[in-house]
Parts: sequence; structure tokens; C-alpha cells
Amino acid sequence: MGIEVVVEGLTKSFGKQNIWQDVSLTLPAGEVSVMLGPSGTGKTVFLKSIIGLLKPEQGRVLINGVDMVNSPEREIMETRKLFGLMFQDGALFGSMSLFDNIAFPLREHTRKKESEIRRIVMERIDIVGLLGAEGKLPGEISGGMRKRAGLARALVLDPQIILCDEPDSGLDPVRTAYLSQLLIDLNAQIDATMLIVTHNLDIAATVPDNMGMLFCRNLVTFGPREVLLTSDTPVVSQFLAGRREGPIGMSEEKDAATLAAEQRFDTAPLPTGPRTVVPQLEPSPGMPVRQGALRRRERVMSMMGQLPEAARTAILNSYTPAAGGARA
Ligand SMILES: Nc1ncnc2c1ncn2[C@@H]1O[C@H](COP(=O)(O)OP(=O)(O)OP(=O)(O)O)[C@@H](O)[C@H]1O
Ligand SMILES: [Mg+2]
Repeated sequence: MGIEVVVEGLTKSFGKQNIWQDVSLTLPAGEVSVMLGPSGTGKTVFLKSIIGLLKPEQGRVLINGVDMVNSPEREIMETRKLFGLMFQDGALFGSMSLFDNIAFPLREHTRKKESEIRRIVMERIDIVGLLGAEGKLPGEISGGMRKRAGLARALVLDPQIILCDEPDSGLDPVRTAYLSQLLIDLNAQIDATMLIVTHNLDIAATVPDNMGMLFCRNLVTFGPREVLLTSDTPVVSQFLAGRREGPIGMSEEKDAATLAAEQRFDTAPLPTGPRTVVPQLEPSPGMPVRQGALRRRERVMSMMGQLPEAARTAILNSYTPAAGGARA
């Protein structure tokens, strides 16, 4: 089963540029979480910090008692084997076939025999729907296929923690929907703890158990998906509605003058309205029940008292079977 990831007071800067500060959150074991945030808010830097590839100046990332920030490099390397990381750009080797790309971590990090490697690689290729394409070079396949190859490669070492950096970028809406289902099915099959960074609002609305958002060098919020999906915080509702009006500008933060001007012209309140929370995706027929979802239900029920009312209502609705089996 997946492993809990505890992030405590993480702060990262590059030189004088602070990326984010005092970020704390827990990725619950075996649950699926999504991190949202405008471009440049440091989502990729956050993933790289969790896996220990970048070193925040302050804070800890605890995984099985190992601190991915401050522990000896040998322990960090060992713990990194628990991870599968799907990079934003796919990061495939252009001169290697898909098979060799996906086999790479096995050849690099294990002493498995070639026959065993073949079995594992073909199984993962099957999971992501790339059977038949294993002999192709990355340059000979579509962007969506490259994404799925990157996912297959992230899966070969049986990861207990999976980090996906914008798995949907460059995909059309239909392929994004398939990918969302694939991520949920994967979670049902291996019960890995998953963190997905995305800009895609459909993924955000349908895939995760938990959701957070980075903005203006801070973690705006992190918690059950319903909290963010029903939030009235301007930055959150602007992002989820994909509006120009609001605190997020082209260069992430609008300057004060632009905001003031906007407010002068937009005297009418922005249409917020009750936001509906669509049901979370279920595993495909024939897949096991998501153990993470079962644990999540108990966890969320026990924290109901601390949640805003809109989120509480949405959670209760999602756990109450609708009459006649209809799932509005
Ligand atoms: N190795 C590095 N050295 C210096 N600055 C860096 C480094 N890596 C990232 N940055 C800076 O950190 C900031 C956040 O970058 P990051 O790639 O994490 O953003 P992001 O939220 O993933 O954006 P996007 O949604 O466009 O992928 C950027 O300003 C970037 O220039
Ligand atoms: Mg990024």
C-alpha cells in the first residue's frame, strides 16, 4: 500500500528569488492528490523537492522516517526508489525505442535478467495502452503516446509514490479523459500515493481525493477536493473558472494598479453562484475497489467538524447514494 508523505514548513528560494515558503501538507497513503497553480508558481520545483532532487532551505519531507531534505544522500537515494516520477516533458531518450526507454530504470537500478525486464516492461506498456508501439522511437509517435510512455516508465519499479508533472499537457480533451481514468485505475490496482500537478480543470474536478493550490509563494489551501472546489477564495475561484478577472494576472500576480482599475470598471460582483461538485471518477469495471478511497472516506468523515459548510455538504452528498441510482 502507498506511503504517507509529510511535508513540513518547506521553503525554497533560488538566490534572492523565493519560490514558496512554509509549505506544509500531508499526502495521505494511497490517496490521489492534485496540486494546482498558475504557471511559474513552483509546482515542478515542489515535486523535485519531494523527491530530493532540489534542496529547500527550510523544512522537511518525511517518508518512512527519512527526511528527503536533510537526511544523508545515501538514505535519500534509497528512498527515491519508492518513487515513480513522470516528468512534464516526458523526458524520453530520443535515440532509444519506447521499450528501451521504459526498461531504462530497471536496467539502471536493478539486476533483473533481461527476460524478467521484458515481462515487466510489456506489462506496463499494456497498462498504458501502447502495445505494438514498443519498437518505435519517441520522435515517431504522438505527444499523447509519449506522455503514456513516460507514465509507463514511471511505473516499472513498482512505485509506492507516483508524482506526475502535468500528465495532460498537449493532450486533447478525449485523451485527457482517458488519462484521468487511467490514473484512477492505476491507483485502484497498486494503491500508490499519487500527486498530480496539472492546469487541467477536468482532471482537478474528477480525479483527486485531495487538492491544493500554490499561489504567490504560498500554499493557498490543501485538503479534501470538496474544500477547494467549493472555495470562495478569489484566487481559487478565478483559477477554477478560468477567468481573467481576479488576483491572477498574466505574470502570475497582477500589479496593484491593474487590480484597482479592474475593480473600478467591474463594480458588479463577479458571478460566483453555487459551484457544483461533479462526482469523482470510479475505477473501470473489473478493477479492484480503491483502498485509498475507503481510507479517505473515514479520514474525511472524522475531520468534518473542521471543514467549511459548503465542503461538508458536498462531501455528504457524495457519500449519500442518490435515489434511483442517478449520479447527478
Ligand atoms: N534550477 C533552477 N534554478 C533557478 N531557478 C529555477 C530553477 N528551477 C525553477 N526555477 C524557477 O522557479 C520558478 C518556478 O518554476 P516551476 O518550473 O516550478 O514552475 P511551475 O509552477 O512548474 O510552472 P509551469 O506550470 O509553467 O510548469 C520559476 O520562476 C523558475 O524560473
Ligand atoms: Mg512545471
